This record gives sequence, C-alpha cells and structure tokens, in this order.
Amino acid sequence: MVMTPEQKRIVEFAAEQFGPKTVTTDPSDIEPWLTDWRRRYRGAAPAILSPASTEAVSALVALANDLGVALVPQGGNSGMVGGAVPPVDGSALLLSTRRMNRIRSISPEANLAIAEAGVILATFRDAAEAAGRRFPLDLGARGSATIGGLVSTNAGGVQVLRFGTMRALVAGIEAVLPDGSVHDGLSALKKDNRGYDLTQLLIGAEGTLGIVTAATLRLVPAAAARAVAWIGLDSPAKALTLLRRLQAATDMIESFEIMPDDTVALVLEHVPGTRLPLSGRHRWHVLVEAVSSDVAAEAPSAVLERLLADAFAADLAQDAVLAASEAQAEAFWRIRHSISEAERAAGPAVQHDISVPVDDMPRFMVEGGAEAEARFPGTHAIAYGHLGDGNVHFHVRAPQGADHDRWYAEDGPRITRLVHDMVVAAGGSISAEHGIGQMKRDELARLSPPARIAALRAIKTALDPRHILNPGKLVALAPETGRT
Ligand code: FAD
Ligand code: MLT
Ligand code: ZN
Repeated sequence: MVMTPEQKRIVEFAAEQFGPKTVTTDPSDIEPWLTDWRRRYRGAAPAILSPASTEAVSALVALANDLGVALVPQGGNSGMVGGAVPPVDGSALLLSTRRMNRIRSISPEANLAIAEAGVILATFRDAAEAAGRRFPLDLGARGSATIGGLVSTNAGGVQVLRFGTMRALVAGIEAVLPDGSVHDGLSALKKDNRGYDLTQLLIGAEGTLGIVTAATLRLVPAAAARAVAWIGLDSPAKALTLLRRLQAATDMIESFEIMPDDTVALVLEHVPGTRLPLSGRHRWHVLVEAVSSDVAAEAPSAVLERLLADAFAADLAQDAVLAASEAQAEAFWRIRHSISEAERAAGPAVQHDISVPVDDMPRFMVEGGAEAEARFPGTHAIAYGHLGDGNVHFHVRAPQGADHDRWYAEDGPRITRLVHDMVVAAGGSISAEHGIGQMKRDELARLSPPARIAALRAIKTALDPRHILNPGKLVALAPETGRT
C-alpha cells in the first residue's frame, strides 16, 4: 500500500529514532490487524507503529499532529464495535500498544498496580494473584484484551455486579494527548480536585482523545474460596427475583449471567468439549459465582447451597448444580464465555449491547425479542449476559438461508434501529459496555439530544483540533471539519 509523504516521514522517523521493531510495513504483518474480531469491519493501513515507551508514543503522536497524519490506537483488537479498525482508505496508521507490556509496579498493601497499556488482561490477573491480590474484571477476551483497550472502552465483563466497570477500577492514567504532550495522572490520590478529571474523561474515550500508555489499577483481596453454580429456571423474571434474594442474603455474589436454552445449545453444538451441566433442558440458564476473601467466613458453597434450597422451595429455580471442583467451575464458565464464538460460527446476526433499568430487563428480554421477531419474520432474537447490571447482549439472527451481505445491508440496520428505539423508549442505553466505535456512531447521533452530540464534538475538537486520533469513531464530527 502506497504511503503519503507524511506517513512515510513518520515511518522513517519511528525506525530511526526508536529502532526497526517500532514499525512494520509488511502487508502480511499488518493483515491480521485490519479486521475486527467479529469480522464485520475491514480497514487498510500502510504501516503499524509499535512504540515500546511513552516517550516514543509522545514523539510519534507529536509528529503525526504536526503532519496531520491520522493514527488508530490498537490493543488486543478484541473490541466489539470496530473501534480499532483503521479507515478503508489507508489514510491512518495503526498505533499498536502491544510492545508496551510491562507491569511497572504492584503494591499489595495499597491494593494498587501500575500496568502499561499493552499488558494483556489474563497476564495482569495472574500477576495480581501471584502478589496475593485479585484484579476483579473478567471477560471472554481475557487472553487478548489489553489494559489500554479495557480502559478506553470502559469495559464491563462478568464481575461488574460486585466491582463495577473499568471506570471504577482505574485510579490513575498516563496518556499521550493528541498534541504529543503527556498527561501524567498515575498517582492514585484518594482526593484530587484539580479541575476537570482527565482520567475519567479518557476512560471510555475509545482512543479519540488520547493514547493511554499506562494505568494505575485497583486490586482487591485474593479469593479465599469461590462457588460456581449452574441453575435451570423458567424466566428472566424469576432469575431477577432469585438474584435479588441472593444479594439480600450475602455480599459474596460476583457474577450472575443469564442465557436462553437455545444459546447454550448453540455453544454445545459449536464448541467442542462443552456439555450441559444439568440433566434436563430448561428455558433459561443462570451461571452464578460467589466469592469470599475471608477464610473464617462461611464457605461460598455452603451459602449457595442453602440459598438455592430456598430458591427451589420458592419455585424460583427448577434445577441447579454446584461445581464440585475448580475444573468443573471452569467448564461452566467456558460455556458462558464461548457464546460469542459459537454465535460467530452460526451465521449472520446483528448484535446489540444494551442496558435498561434492571427491573425492566426481564420484560425487555421477552417482549423485545417477540417484537423483533414479529416485525422481521424468520429472525430469531436472543438475549443473554449480565442481567444484574441491567445489560444483556440482545442479538437477532438472520432467517435461515438469508443472503449474508444483503441482510447486513438491509434488514440488519432496520432491526438495529428497532432495537435501539425500544431501548431508548425504555430509558436505556444503546451501548452498555462495548462502546460506540464505528458500529454505533450514527445511531448515537440519531438517538442523542443535539446538545449531547455538540458537547462531545466540542470536547473532541478542543483536545484533537486536527482530528488525528481514531477518526470516524465514537462521534461523527461536524461535516465542515472535512473529517468524518
Ligand atoms: P482494541 O479492540 O484493540 O481497541 C478497542 C478500542 O480502544 C478502540 O477504539 C481502540 O482505538 C481503543 N484503544 C485500544 N488501546 C488503546 C490505548 N492504549 N489508548 C487509547 N485507545 C485505545 N467487552 C466487555 O466490556 N464485556 C465483555 O463481557 C466482553 N466480552 C468479550 C468476549 C469476547 C469473546 C470478545 C472477543 C470481546 C469481548 N469484549 C467484552 C470486548 C472487548 O474485549 C473489550 O472491548 C476490550 O476492552 C477491548 O480491549 P482491546 O485491547 O482488545 O482493545
Ligand atoms: C459477552 O458478554 O459475552 C461479551 O460482551 C461479548 C458479546 O457481546 O458477545
Ligand atoms: Zn458482555
């Protein structure tokens, strides 16, 4: 791919100043990083910049800003909204943080650690455990998602119920701003009221306001014991009542993931080695995890066992099994975390990562699905995920045999507009945890009050007046800027 003279200048500067590993222009190296995990978006880039230090990121961004060259920050490229995919016209360079993979410090006494942006979630979680602590954020992409991506998408995952999203777990950020200057906000002060909170502004900014180079992250005490149960039940309404009873009885509940039976069946069909934990089928399944960090406290398994017996007596659950070993607990989780993979194998679908008020979620899951299927005959709607967060993944599968491209071009967007209209009517959000990226940029503009879009544009233009960082993502800029 031909580079512009400005892009060439940056590529040469990168190699001269920071060594040959800091850049690749080899198409076979670049290729795997040009499409998103779901393979819904594909872009082009003449080079990937791979700086290994904040100093290098700062110098490269400063030069890109001087020359007006667009950069797309990329971590693990596991994002679900096409946020790390470069524009199709090759006008941007990818800037990968994967070489910035040092854990700078872990302080168990302070329950804090400083990790660079390219550290992979699984690596960081292991390092916290080795230090006798836990980093309480987990999701299916733990083997590829990076700290910088998790911060920039304000990721959620399966432990939000007890510990919140990434926003709650970030105590400080170091980032390179669009002019190349470095925001050093890593010190984890308990109180700091020096004006606008740049750390919170950069969390969830999806690489449009700065490049996160490191983060100070909160840790929690190590788990003394955990219990994982797989439950079969009749409805999301009963599941929510069950969750409320569990939470009222104990503070150990960390995860409560709901899945419809046909989604579990899809995993069992497409993912080798998975099998249903219960003997019979149930219309809905819940995976619940209880964790205690207090060795003297009642064991989570005993607590769950007791509470599930009450649930049976109250006809809230029809069947349940407690994992008898760590291996079995992991086998339960493997089913839940394989849903995206199974769904990707099963054919065209439009995905929605939505949130509505928690109490409205059961109604939305059932009625929303029925409405989508009624309006688009032959489609199949499913809703699964983080029920207690008021966040489910509401996916609508194409009719059997639908033409893949035509469906994505025609009915897919219509279904998305229907789903998003239903969500907004319920007072919900069209993006609960995945962000906006390019996938929801136009829907965000369509469904937001003009004042909100104007404010987002003003922030973007104030910090990145040349619009070099991640163009085309999150908020569409005013047409007069000449950039999308
Ligand atoms: P990338 O995909 O590389 O980038 C994501 C966005 O952040 C892009 O806009 C990119 O430009 C920007 N970015 C990346 N690094 C930086 C940086 N250092 N500075 C500035 N901007 C940057 N997400 C959830 O929230 N909850 C889930 O439960 C969940 N489960 C998942 C399960 C599977 C199987 C998969 C594939 C994904 C899942 N995700 C989930 C989505 C994804 O893992 C998260 O969005 C994650 O935060 C992306 O991290 P990443 O390093 O891959 O970022
Ligand atoms: C999940 O909870 O599995 C993820 O957010 C991914 C998805 O939406 O498929
Ligand atoms: Zn999710």
